[in-house]
Amino acid sequence: MNITALYPGTFDPITNGHLDLIIRASKLYPRVVVAIANNVGKNPLFSFEERLSLATEVTKAYDHVEVIGFEGLLAECAKQQGAQVVLRGMRTVADFEYEWQMASLNRHLAPDLETVFLMPSEQHTFISSSMIREIARYKGDVSRFVPKIVQQQLHAKFNQE
Ligand code: PNS
Repeated sequence: MNITALYPGTFDPITNGHLDLIIRASKLYPRVVVAIANNVGKNPLFSFEERLSLATEVTKAYDHVEVIGFEGLLAECAKQQGAQVVLRGMRTVADFEYEWQMASLNRHLAPDLETVFLMPSEQHTFISSSMIREIARYKGDVSRFVPKIVQQQLHAKFNQE
């Protein structure tokens, strides 16, 4: 079966944890679509265009990985992309309730769309975009947690202030 897996998120910014998941997914599915949400409610640090461009840059080495942006419902985006699977990372039990709620709502909206959870490797378990932003804001070292270009852009953001 030619399954398309959609990996949605805010990606503010994309981290090594996200990349770990994308690489794992690219070994399982012939087409992986990283879908960046233009969710204005979240007031992201990086603009929609910046998040798209960073994700495109850091995934360009992976042939069957695409990066797109989306607005509105994830279920609708999955339909448009012909995706049968929504991928999400499950780091610890702390992620579970939110993920369970989201997967249940998406199942209600699109009964044929399956949410599949992947575990990042251990060294990425504690990485989150919000923690990365906080460390970078206070000029801490994030080099182990994000690709080089993301590190540079974080540096540029917080040194403009
Ligand atoms: O990485 P995040 O911020 O946890 O990703 C959350 C995201 C973007 C996947 C989620 O908020 C989403 O799917 N937004 C689109 C709107 C939608 O479909 N909401 C209903 C399902 S909860």
